[in-house]
Amino acid sequence: MTNKRKGRAAAVAAPPLRRVCILTGGGDAPGLNAVLRAFVRACVAKGVEVVGSEDGFDGLVRTDGGIKLLDLAAIRGVLPLGGSILGCSNRANPWAYPMKDARGREKLVDVSEHVISRLHDLAVDVLVVVGGDGSMIHAQKLAEHGVRVVGVPKTIDNDLAATDITFGFDTAVATATWAIDALHTTAHAHDRVMVVELMGRYAGWISLSAGIAGGADVVLIPEIPYDVERVVQKVRARSASGERFSIVVVGEGAKPHGGHTATVTRGKRGHLPRLGGAAYALAAELEGRVPHEIRTTVLGHLQRGGSPSAYDRVLATRFGVSAAELVLSGHSGRMVALRGQSIVSVPLDEVVGRSKLVPIDGELVRTARAIGIELGA
Ligand code: F6P
Repeated sequence: MTNKRKGRAAAVAAPPLRRVCILTGGGDAPGLNAVLRAFVRACVAKGVEVVGSEDGFDGLVRTDGGIKLLDLAAIRGVLPLGGSILGCSNRANPWAYPMKDARGREKLVDVSEHVISRLHDLAVDVLVVVGGDGSMIHAQKLAEHGVRVVGVPKTIDNDLAATDITFGFDTAVATATWAIDALHTTAHAHDRVMVVELMGRYAGWISLSAGIAGGADVVLIPEIPYDVERVVQKVRARSASGERFSIVVVGEGAKPHGGHTATVTRGKRGHLPRLGGAAYALAAELEGRVPHEIRTTVLGHLQRGGSPSAYDRVLATRFGVSAAELVLSGHSGRMVALRGQSIVSVPLDEVVGRSKLVPIDGELVRTARAIGIELGA
């Protein structure tokens, strides 16, 4: 039984544990190694062995290898490292795993039964999935098939509904803010409009936060379809008042009124499209309509790389310890989460498929408007 309101799970009879497996699914985010380190330390202290599946679920899909012992030596020195010592994959979906047929053509194969029996053969008692929404869907399905599973939320986009904050977000915002600061000086020197595209997929958390932190003049987020004329007027008004430059932040998922999200590829079967091009599309619209040269920067994966911030290291460590506590106390089918100042756990079936977008009338949007940031609508 769970107390969902408080996010606390009641104690259950804990079966003896010998070995747990952890994996880092989906795209990487700064702080993954901090989760692994904390989880391993907390488990090893209780005499439980930890192994890791390499490259997300890939290690478990393989018939041989792909599994790494995570002892204290393996996690030594990893706290400040970006990426994941286990590797990540956003294509290793056990229910639609890409494989080549005899003619070399790719097809998607359901290998979930194999993954479940591999866990059994490896004598894994509990699987811990560190990942975003896609990985939590896999975790939930495995739980439905009787696998004991615990989830840890991760994404720089901060768009998972069940948790107030995901680790990696703070680092991504810091990197984006650094970039906006740097663009300010060169924009000022050349009297230019700088358009910078930031990540976040369909959520504007990174763009709005970094835009506010970096003092951007315009911030366009996916939640608020924009009117390009408002951007033009903002830049012109700044020029008329003697400002030599403007900084325009565009979330990769931002789109004009009646327009569509810019994509690089449509996304292979079973996968999300790759977003990109929003900044170039806006720059093309601004060309000739503002009294400045325009330059475009796409910050891209710089936002996912590098050493996690102190905040992300602490949050990731709290998540790692909390996941270990869930595992050690016999819980399954739950994901750790941050609610307010507390780490809680929530049922996986309440997590999947629910994204958290920037509320368009929320306090963050009102703050941006109040200090004169143009949001395009
Ligand atoms: O979800 C995290 C994220 O970094 C998004 O912000 C971005 O659109 C996407 O992943 C990029 O993923 P990929 O690793 O496929 O380039």
